[in-house]
Amino acid sequence: ITIWLLIAFTLCKYVYGDERLELSLNGKWILQNSNGSLLFPAEVPGCVHSALLKQGFIQDIYFRFNDVAYRWIVLDNWTYTISFSPSNEAKQRVRLVFEGVDTVASIFLNGVITGNTDNMFRRYEFSVGKMLRGGENNVEVRLLSPVVYSLERSQAHSSYAVPPDCPPPVQKGECHVNFIRKAQSSFSWDWGPSFPTLGLWKGVRLEAFNVLRLIHLSAVPVYNSSLSQWVVEVEGLFDAVEQTTVRVSLSVVELWTEEAFTVRFLPGTHKCSLSLYVNQVRRVCGEGKGTAVCLCLVCFIVVSFSCEFPTQVYFRTVELVQEPIAGSPGLSFYFRINGKPIFLKGSNWIPAHALQDLVSPADVRNLLQSAVDANMNALRVWGGGVYEQDLFYDLCDEMGVMIWQDFMFACAMYPTESDFIQTIREEVIQQVRRLKSHPSVIVWSGNNENEAALATDWFKIPVVQRPQYYTDYVSLYVDNIRAIVLEEDGSRPFLVSSPTNGAESQWEGWVSRDPYNLHYGDTHYYNYTHDCWDWTALPRARFASEYGFQSWPSFSTLRKVSKPEDWSYGSTFSHHRQHHAEGNQQMLKQAGLHYHLPDSPDSLQRYKDTLYITQVMQAQCVKTQTEFYRRSQSEIIEGKGHTMGALYWQLNDIWQGPSWSSIEFGGKWKMLHYFAQEFFSPLLPVGFEDQGVLLVYAVSDLSHDLHLKVSVYGWSSVDAVCTVVSGTALVGGGSAVVIHKQPITALLAGCGSGSCTRLTCLMTYHLEDINGCQQGPINHLFLSSPKEAHGMLKPNITFSVQQDEVRRYTINLRSSAVAAFVWLDALDVPGRFSTNGFLMVTRNRTVTFDPWGPTSTKQLVQALTITSLRDVY
Ligand SMILES: *[C@@H]1O[C@H](CO)[C@@H](O)[C@H](O)[C@H]1NC(C)=O
Ligand SMILES: *[C@@H]1O[C@H](CO)[C@@H](O)[C@H](O)[C@H]1NC(C)=O
Ligand SMILES: *[C@@H]1O[C@H](CO)[C@@H](O)[C@H](O)[C@H]1NC(C)=O
Ligand SMILES: *[C@@H]1O[C@H](CO)[C@@H](O)[C@H](O)[C@H]1NC(C)=O
Ligand SMILES: *[C@@H]1O[C@H](CO)[C@@H](O)[C@H](O)[C@H]1NC(C)=O
Ligand SMILES: *[C@@H]1O[C@H](CO)[C@@H](O)[C@H](O)[C@H]1NC(C)=O
Repeated sequence: ITIWLLIAFTLCKYVYGDERLELSLNGKWILQNSNGSLLFPAEVPGCVHSALLKQGFIQDIYFRFNDVAYRWIVLDNWTYTISFSPSNEAKQRVRLVFEGVDTVASIFLNGVITGNTDNMFRRYEFSVGKMLRGGENNVEVRLLSPVVYSLERSQAHSSYAVPPDCPPPVQKGECHVNFIRKAQSSFSWDWGPSFPTLGLWKGVRLEAFNVLRLIHLSAVPVYNSSLSQWVVEVEGLFDAVEQTTVRVSLSVVELWTEEAFTVRFLPGTHKCSLSLYVNQVRRVCGEGKGTAVCLCLVCFIVVSFSCEFPTQVYFRTVELVQEPIAGSPGLSFYFRINGKPIFLKGSNWIPAHALQDLVSPADVRNLLQSAVDANMNALRVWGGGVYEQDLFYDLCDEMGVMIWQDFMFACAMYPTESDFIQTIREEVIQQVRRLKSHPSVIVWSGNNENEAALATDWFKIPVVQRPQYYTDYVSLYVDNIRAIVLEEDGSRPFLVSSPTNGAESQWEGWVSRDPYNLHYGDTHYYNYTHDCWDWTALPRARFASEYGFQSWPSFSTLRKVSKPEDWSYGSTFSHHRQHHAEGNQQMLKQAGLHYHLPDSPDSLQRYKDTLYITQVMQAQCVKTQTEFYRRSQSEIIEGKGHTMGALYWQLNDIWQGPSWSSIEFGGKWKMLHYFAQEFFSPLLPVGFEDQGVLLVYAVSDLSHDLHLKVSVYGWSSVDAVCTVVSGTALVGGGSAVVIHKQPITALLAGCGSGSCTRLTCLMTYHLEDINGCQQGPINHLFLSSPKEAHGMLKPNITFSVQQDEVRRYTINLRSSAVAAFVWLDALDVPGRFSTNGFLMVTRNRTVTFDPWGPTSTKQLVQALTITSLRDVY
């Protein structure tokens, strides 16, 4: 996506005479509840739930109804205690540092209070030098129930309500989450359970020093186009004991650039900003991943001796372009990366686990790799979860995934008492400083859907009271958050909300009358009842940052958290897991528009088939919508279009339940994710019908001479009835052009002996280059709903498996008939197929399977099941 130039630069984190005592890794923390009935060892980083789990006091928190059964944990108060002995060597200053406290706590050292915390997203530091004693010392962290705290805060806010009070009952969650600076989804969401964790979710340590301590360092390259020059803004946050002068030198070795600075500190915490001018950063690298040029910037920080640490600086520019478009009211809304307009293809990211300490590096890597493998180039870190861990952004930098970063406010009004604003200010400063060196972050966004909530009055606020809420909104997101971001980071755009009308919202006083206006900004769009195949009802938005449909995860995933009595679509369990009102019915209704619903007399089979049909529905619905957005990138129709982003809701899951995700909890791909691999393909033919005319667009992120080949098949046979080849067209990079246009009746009449009708035939199409080689995936169009199709046979799909490499299996499929939505499931053998959920119009097809752990041909053959559309009724 971008051409990164790489600079390694070195810095010195602990400048002189430092000492660190980790209280997390070596520590032996003890955890107890408020009446002392439970007292046991706990790990830090960690939380109360994971500590209880480790002791065997509770079972898998996701099993069956445990989200409700374990509610007692979060209604209690919990205390973490540790004893430790610092070294005897006295230091001028000692700081007790908490990288993350979840959430409301009083912290005691040797029985004396040293500070309080109220924000999960902040680092806290306390000065403790004078309170330490020789020999054994003791730190105690008394955590208050987040549920009780939120209730108390909301009651103390007596002058007016700050809605919503509680989540809808279907979510079985806790109330007043907007009164606590904590992952907003932890009190339940429409895709997730209520687990308001308590704990020390990041590292804890003592830092002792005599002269100077470096708390944080960032380096952000900013391009000055009028000077054609890069400025690397290097910024350090220092903690000085006394007046100190240091020498700092920055150099890019490859460019022979070097700059020396003298910095003087007074006692206390200071920010030090240095600029290094870099005239020529040659963009010699090509497109795509892994083609970066490495330059070395060395930074020496000298006190009485010098030291250095390596890091990387990537050069890229990002602009959010909002300017008039010919033939359309409103403004464009797209990202220009390194001077080039880029269509953002991807999804939305939610917390990967309710217990953040249980998210492993492998989980993060697997999810991000899955995004990249599905041809995504962007993810939105949604504002109801957490600012993700450093590893997440490091991997995005490395893999070329662009991040739309929300601040953590979602679907609610928020209070604006001064202590609340103050803790948010500190949160925002810290998070921006932490994340701004990451080139993957291309835009900040103040909140999720709060402009829309206010503008379209989700909470039925009486008219006379509304000015108060508008004032609070502007105060929080504009006067505080936006002001801080502009001050701290001049290298990327800031949006106040998502969805928003961007510049138009600002013009209208930050809250637009209609933030969903298609002529401006980004849009969120959901409609579960309308036929999702009907593209004419879809919003031709400038940028689609949320849209989607629910589905159920697979049986093998659900089985891990359920019992046989739960295995039916109407069970209490199925009802309990669904956190979106009417969700289970909506899925079947939408599926029923185009497919026969499962009717097996065997109830377990019917349950599995129903899970399957929800995934078919979701995959096809999101495909239709995404293809609509991609083909709308070059056109203005009725004043709308130039769509430059499609981020569907949502990438991942927090537990094993029905949701909009394309990846199940545990990493298994749903049918949608396999579809995404194709509908986000760099080259894609998109076919649809407009008033009886077949239109096929060639969508390209590249630049190519292409033509289109259309093949028509009868449902009842695996031999193509006829093929049609379009003329050749040059399809420019970053465009969508019509490559084929033909009335369906003419196409069918010219096909074979004219035996094809909408009901008996379907078509596939793919792009070819001038040599006749296939480019991009084979796509297809049904000419009628499959449930109305004539001649669809029950296919007999047989397979053989062979292991051709150590960790790859080849599956040769053979089908007796055309088969739709062919779904291979390796059940409890974790891994990924090369393709899945596909339309099989040939007798043979080869699919590969990459297992994620040891398995064997025998095991795979035993596990493998194949389901197609005709099998479920
Ligand atoms: C102590 O608190 C727990 C809840 O954390 C409760 O289940 C238990 O009954 C209490 N024990 C006593 C002795 O009050
Ligand atoms: C938790 O602490 C708060 C504040 O000290 C107190 O009001 C509440 O009763 C405590 N809860 C329990 C279960 O002890
Ligand atoms: C670019 O440099 C010029 C001259 O120093 C300065 O006036 C201008 O503000 C800079 N622009 C940016 C975007 O920093
Ligand atoms: C969904 O579409 C239907 C039919 O077009 C329409 O009546 C309904 O208002 C839409 N619902 C939403 C939430 O947009
Ligand atoms: C399916 O095909 C296989 C192999 O061609 C054959 O052995 C088997 O009998 C067929 N099954 C049915 C139900 O037709
Ligand atoms: C399809 O597979 C069968 C069995 O694996 C094989 O006998 C046949 O030759 C294959 N046909 C084609 C067209 O590849």
